[in-house]
Amino acid sequence: MKVIATYNIKGGVGKTATAVNIAYLAASQGQRVLLWDLDPQAAASFLFRVRPKVKGGGKALIAGKRPVDDAIKATDFDNLDLLPADFTYRNLDLHLDGERKSATRLRSLLTPLRREYDLVVLDCPPSISLLSENVLHAADLLLVPLIPTTLSVRTLDQLTEFIGGFDGKRPRVLAFFSMLDRRKRLHREIADELPATRKDVAAAAIPALSAIERMSLQRAPITAAAPRSRAASYYRDLWTEAMNSIIA
Ligand SMILES: Nc1ncnc2c1ncn2[C@@H]1O[C@H](COP(=O)(O)OP(=O)(O)OP(=O)(O)O)[C@@H](O)[C@H]1O
Ligand SMILES: [Mg+2]
Repeated sequence: MKVIATYNIKGGVGKTATAVNIAYLAASQGQRVLLWDLDPQAAASFLFRVRPKVKGGGKALIAGKRPVDDAIKATDFDNLDLLPADFTYRNLDLHLDGERKSATRLRSLLTPLRREYDLVVLDCPPSISLLSENVLHAADLLLVPLIPTTLSVRTLDQLTEFIGGFDGKRPRVLAFFSMLDRRKRLHREIADELPATRKDVAAAAIPALSAIERMSLQRAPITAAAPRSRAASYYRDLWTEAMNSIIA
C-alpha cells in the first residue's frame, strides 16, 4: 500500500482537485483506492457526494475507539472508497496531541488498511500543524501544487527542509505547477525553468481551466466526467509522473 498526500501550507492551490482526480485515475486502473478527506471543509467528500459525517467524530478515530474502516464509505466509482471529513476534524490537532507518539499516529491508523487498499490518498487542509506533520510522516509521496510565483519555490524549499529533519522514513516530494496561466509571462518563465532544473518539480503541470473549476458543480472528478477533455489529459500526465516517482 502506498500513501500519497496532496499538501501545501497554502489554501486554494488545487490540493483537493488533484486528490480527487488521482484517486479516480488510480481506481480506474484497477488499484484499490481509499481517499481520506482530512479537511473539515469537506470539499473532497462533497465532490464524491458523500455526507461529511463520521460517527464519534475525529476524536474517536484518532483515539482508536472506532476502527478507521468502520467509517469508510463507498463512492459511485469502482475500487474507490472515501473516508469522509467531519466538522470535528477542525480539532484533530487537539486529539492528536493527546496521543502517545503524536506525530506518527495517522501512520499507525493506516496500518490495518494495508490488506484492503493499494493506494491511500490524503487530502489535507491548508496548514502547518500537528495534523500536517502526521500527514508528512504517513506519506510515501507528497504532491505539492504550486502557483507559479517566486514565493512558491520558497514554500517548497521550506517544506523540504522541514522533512529533512525527520528521523527515519521521509516522504518523497513532487511539486507541480497548478493553475498555470501561460498568458502570464512570469508563469511561463517559472513553469519552463523549474522542472528543467529541479528534480522535485514535475514536468507535468495543471493549467487554470474553467472545466476544472466546474468540477464542484458536476460533483465528480473531471477525469471521470470528461475523460477525453484537455483537463483530464493533464491530470493523467501528472498521475503517470507521480506513479513513476513513487516506484522509482
Ligand atoms: N487548475 C485549475 N483551474 C481552475 N480552477 C481550479 C484549478 N484547480 C482548482 N481549481 C478551483 O479552485 C478552487 C480551489 O481548488 P482546490 O479546492 O482544489 O484547492 P485546495 O488547495 O484544496 O483548497 P483548500 O486549501 O481550501 O483545501 C476550487 O474552486 C477549484 O475548483
Ligand atoms: Mg482542499
